[in-house]
Amino acid sequence: MNVQDVRNSGRIEMRDARTLAYKAKDLIVTDPPYNIGYKYAGDFNDNQPSKDYAELFTPMRGHRVVMIHYAENIMADIVPVLGAPQRCAAWTYPSNAGSRNWRTIAWWNCEPEWSRVGVEYKNPHDKRVAKLIMQGKKRSCPDHWEFNLVKNVSREKVQGYTNQIPEVVISRILALTARKGDVIVDPFCGTGTTAKVAEVHGHQWRTYDINERAIELATNRIEGEKRQTLF
Ligand SMILES: C[S@@+](CC[C@H](N)C(=O)[O-])C[C@H]1O[C@@H](n2cnc3c(N)ncnc32)[C@H](O)[C@@H]1O
Repeated sequence: MNVQDVRNSGRIEMRDARTLAYKAKDLIVTDPPYNIGYKYAGDFNDNQPSKDYAELFTPMRGHRVVMIHYAENIMADIVPVLGAPQRCAAWTYPSNAGSRNWRTIAWWNCEPEWSRVGVEYKNPHDKRVAKLIMQGKKRSCPDHWEFNLVKNVSREKVQGYTNQIPEVVISRILALTARKGDVIVDPFCGTGTTAKVAEVHGHQWRTYDINERAIELATNRIEGEKRQTLF
């Protein structure tokens, strides 16, 4: 087993999510394998029979979970395991075809506190809104988010892996949901976005992946974060 203490506040481990046990102070924030045939680094293909796929989520039952996924897969594969989520939001982004795509952000056994994140008003020319802006006010975070995907040329892009989630999406989830003392856990680490953002937000965290390449890239990424912070 490959265990790495990247910093005092976090731990990266190469491990199968099916074998994990969670604790009450864990807040699981994750972007799981999508089960639609994605290939990450190496031969691993995330397309699995539903029964095997369901096993990835079984240990999360009854725990606080925030998950980013396609709506169809949440309904078909995750709801049968975790039950109906308490809350959902839509994350939309421009697609290569020039339209927009979206994914669901779903909360189980926890809720976003929308008022914790203020966003700019979209209609500043409306008289009533203009007045609020003059008073320095913002509106509560809506349940419809617009953030671009991580592109190959993005500053945060980790080369050599796929499906990297934008830091801003995880950052917003943590800002809306995490409480003091929570340990942020991502059982599907990939390039380590959740861990990195949890670190920046000052949370304790743990993250796991079955793929050795993911562990390597995430470790380097979070160590890079440490260097940036120190110098
Ligand atoms: C969608 S990616 C996560 C991407 C990540 N959020 C990021 O920003 O880079 C899903 C990850 O789940 C991992 N994975 C698939 N099956 C797993 C399992 N049984 N246990 C742990 N990790 C697994 C894959 O190797 C992949 O890195």
